[in-house]
Amino acid sequence: METRDKPLLRALTGESAWPPPMWLMRQAGRYLPEYRVLRAKASGFIELATTPALAAEITLQPIRRFGFDAAILFSDILLLPWALGQGLAYLEGEGPVLPPLRTAADLDALDASRVLPAIQPIVETVRAVRAGLTAEGHAGCALIGFAGAPFTVACYMVEGGGSRDFAATKAMAYANPALFKRLIDLLTAATVTYLAAQIEAGAEAVMLFDSWAGVLSPSQFQMHVTQPSQTIVTTLRQQYPHVPIIGFPRLAGLLIGDYVGRTGVQAVGMDTSMDPALVTTLVPSNVALQGNLDPLAVVAGGAAMLEEARGILRAMRGRPFVFNLGHGIVPQTPIEHVAALVELVRAA
Ligand code: CP3
Repeated sequence: METRDKPLLRALTGESAWPPPMWLMRQAGRYLPEYRVLRAKASGFIELATTPALAAEITLQPIRRFGFDAAILFSDILLLPWALGQGLAYLEGEGPVLPPLRTAADLDALDASRVLPAIQPIVETVRAVRAGLTAEGHAGCALIGFAGAPFTVACYMVEGGGSRDFAATKAMAYANPALFKRLIDLLTAATVTYLAAQIEAGAEAVMLFDSWAGVLSPSQFQMHVTQPSQTIVTTLRQQYPHVPIIGFPRLAGLLIGDYVGRTGVQAVGMDTSMDPALVTTLVPSNVALQGNLDPLAVVAGGAAMLEEARGILRAMRGRPFVFNLGHGIVPQTPIEHVAALVELVRAA
């Protein structure tokens, strides 16, 4: 099937097909027993993500099991700092750990010229997934590439990992705006390189994950979320006008309308906190919406999950829409609950 005829692409380019296409953020990962088998054999997450045969296999696992309309490249937003030369490790039970970036010297130690060679295994994975989708008969399934948006990636780089309040990142943004801007600008350029390479290798749409966008004040949001995303969208659009870009400014709240208008994304992810009916009043009707079932509703399953999903479907009927979660699926999710959710959306 031609890319433009795939249900995901039709929705992302403004068609309101029903039932809507669906996929789930973090659909490849620890809630799947077949992922845990491969994970246990590898030395760590980075090995999985940078071994094309393994990463492609993991990308395809949820497609085989659930028949989603999109596969999302199995990788991580922090492989960009890794490619820039910042150290990275994923510690069991602790999440990602990096040497914190706090000074101009720390920033100077990063090397943008390393990005293209370092990401070659990931580019190779994109090619292998496209070939695998065809070989295994998933003709209608589209492949989504992705990157973290500059602000969210900067958060992990400055903090040296996750954080409750991103105090060190915000301190740098307020107290040393020139240094923080240099970091954001470096990440903006590297993200364009990274996403362009994924598109060249066969990614049919790309998503920009800005998971921590919502921690910023409105003026800082404009500077560090909207502006860099606008640069990324504009630059990629010039080179690849037919590849839709999905923005995900998580917890942006009322700023979502301004974000969509200024960045020019074709589609926007709604996080769990957003009221889909209210979002339709903030985002123009030609922009596709994606979301936003609470991942914890899928852990609970049963009538509560189905009622929540039905409410989202009711609000989205008649507009370009991609069913998804409001944040990533969590490891303790029972796979039978995912199967029941797929059944409900397919019967919408
Ligand atoms: O299936 C998919 O969605 C594709 C793969 C994917 C991963 N991470 C794999 C992963 C994607 C799209 C991401 C995005 C990502 N990574 C985000 C943005 C989305 C969001 O969830 O907010 C962020 C903030 C990260 C950073 C990250 N990576 C954290 C905080 C962690 C540890 C906590 C956790 O959720 O596991 C990771 C590790 C990670 N990324 C795993 C996977 C499958 C777990 C690694 C393992 O198996 O040990």
